[in-house]
Amino acid sequence: MNQVRDILITSALPYANGPIHIGHLVEYIQTDIWARFQKMRGHRCWYVCADDAHGTPIMLRARAEGISPESLIERVAAEHQADFAAFCIGFDQYHSTHSPENRHFAELIYTRNCDQGHVAQREIEQAYDPREQMFLPDRFIKGECPKCGAADQYGDNCEACGASYSPAELKNPRSAVSGAVPEMRRSEHYFFKLADFEGMLRDWTRGGGLQTQVANKLDEWFNAGLQEWDISRDAPYFGFEIPGAPGKFFYVWLDAPIGYMASFQHLCERTPGLEFDRYWGADSTAEVYHFIGKDIIYFHALFWPAMLHGAGFRTPSAIFAHGFLTVDGQKMSKSRGTFIRARTYLEHLNPEYLRYYFAAKLGAGVDDIDLSLEDFQAKVNADLVGKIVNIASRTASFIHKRFAGQLAANLPEPELFAEFVAAGETLAAAYDQREFARAMREIMALADRANQYIDEQAPWVMAKDPGREAELHGVCTQGLNLFRLLIGWLRPVLPATTAAAEDFLRIEPLTWQALSQPLLNHQVAKFKPLMTRIERSQIEAMLEASKADLTSPTAATTPDPDQNPAAPTLDPPLGATIDYDSFAQVDLRIARIVEASLVEGADKLLRLRLDLGGEERQVLAGIRSAYAPESLTGRLTVMVANLAPRTMRFGVSEGMVLAAGPGGQELFLLAPDSGATPGMKVK
Ligand code: 2FM
Ligand code: ZN
Repeated sequence: MNQVRDILITSALPYANGPIHIGHLVEYIQTDIWARFQKMRGHRCWYVCADDAHGTPIMLRARAEGISPESLIERVAAEHQADFAAFCIGFDQYHSTHSPENRHFAELIYTRNCDQGHVAQREIEQAYDPREQMFLPDRFIKGECPKCGAADQYGDNCEACGASYSPAELKNPRSAVSGAVPEMRRSEHYFFKLADFEGMLRDWTRGGGLQTQVANKLDEWFNAGLQEWDISRDAPYFGFEIPGAPGKFFYVWLDAPIGYMASFQHLCERTPGLEFDRYWGADSTAEVYHFIGKDIIYFHALFWPAMLHGAGFRTPSAIFAHGFLTVDGQKMSKSRGTFIRARTYLEHLNPEYLRYYFAAKLGAGVDDIDLSLEDFQAKVNADLVGKIVNIASRTASFIHKRFAGQLAANLPEPELFAEFVAAGETLAAAYDQREFARAMREIMALADRANQYIDEQAPWVMAKDPGREAELHGVCTQGLNLFRLLIGWLRPVLPATTAAAEDFLRIEPLTWQALSQPLLNHQVAKFKPLMTRIERSQIEAMLEASKADLTSPTAATTPDPDQNPAAPTLDPPLGATIDYDSFAQVDLRIARIVEASLVEGADKLLRLRLDLGGEERQVLAGIRSAYAPESLTGRLTVMVANLAPRTMRFGVSEGMVLAAGPGGQELFLLAPDSGATPGMKVK
């Protein structure tokens, strides 16, 4: 046995304002497989996570729901944990960044960095909502694009023409929170001096803890120059107030990674003998690994090690970044039903199907992975049901019926067993290197070999010949021992199926070590089918249910709008009024979409040809991320028919169609009840 290692593993903390979906699960499943593998190898391994509970979107979501942020994050934490548990994500600790431990470490890390001179203070000018009395992150300001004039664009980039700009350049800017015209106001902010750490970060980058693509990205950032990082936000803000700075709060991304420490600290408090400093002290010999999506590398590979170093803590051993999930080759889409929530998946399919499929796709790089639904069904059915479970079902019934459940005392082919055991080390290396797809391929090749052995021996033929009882006993014992090895190696991926197999075999939870010895002269239980095939109807039902989720009031997770350019904003609360005459001027009409097509060079727009009951209009609508053009043809919708035509880069837009939602894939075109016809006035 190798030396026992102390390993702390984390996954990125999900925002506490929306449900877990299958895109998130790529990361939790990947991390969980690695953690379970390390535990099976006998290492002291801890897997911790937490909800990321602070920030403006969470504050505003709670406000929109009419509840306190504390109630919102409590409810979402319960939902997240139920979903994770159902997918067998085996956290040793799941905590919250809104916790006393996190406040303690956030204050400590901040204060120590301040004391070392790594925090600067200066005034900056920012947009301010005078009605809501709050500063507005860029993504909470909307207006007309300064380049193409498209209405209702965010403060940082235009969905119609793709231009990037600063919120100050927007024409007719409005607060997305209240609709008020923002003012520019000055306020004091706190900045983390990242450049102080350039030398240390360059060394750390070269220390082997980063994937090549990530290290290259860091080099680009070093070459561009490390900028100071604004770590403060003004009240109102849901977070921790900065010590000695009333009305100023830590920016959510300051205390989010500190949540890893807080969660671990909480685990230490309830685990005798587990010491925080052994893992986080400056001279720690333990290993600390963060699994993250490739979109948050900057935070984890620059800010986080720098903050830790500045505060006298150890830096992570490695950051493992992964790519995004596509479904059937495309971004997950609500209208196609491929934006699948964890809960919706669970209502239709076994979570271990998805665990296996992701494992079969995942490597150690940052490439995106695709969930091809046809391949998913075919692969799970062929590999898990057709190969693995089949080995047990082909042999177990003979052991039960003919030998009273007792395995033979010897293996007829010990060399074959030894060959399999030897392959276990190659598999372990693949798991350790996070080359799960390779491990799955090798396990399935061995499963083919085991099935081939059973085919050659044909126990069903032996069973007909009373003179071949001992032979039959031996072959079935051999078959079940090969099955035990295979399911044992799949244990990190299929913990529930393996637990059921362990019950059947009447054995303790398998370790890598235990797998090297065969199971002989041992009583097993009656075999029950361990897994059933996926039917296409289950997948269809899940897609339909996901489309229906479109109308559910639960929000999708809203990323932090300051940092994530793809982040949708929240709807403003109801409140701002207009007079009746202003409303009466808007001519809303029912329109039929005669044709919808892509607009070359514009990745956000669709060109719609609309029939208004005799009159045709062309509208360029920013709905491409939510709708495939072919899905729109023939549909009725509602349009503003008396909007002055607007000349855009891609042509003239003669009106606007009405849609609801924050944007991106979460956009829902309005449609009338049946009976309405093109041209009808909407009253
Ligand atoms: O991007 C996100 O979803 C963040 N909530 C991840 C935070 S990870 C860590 F830093 F806490
Ligand atoms: Zn524009």
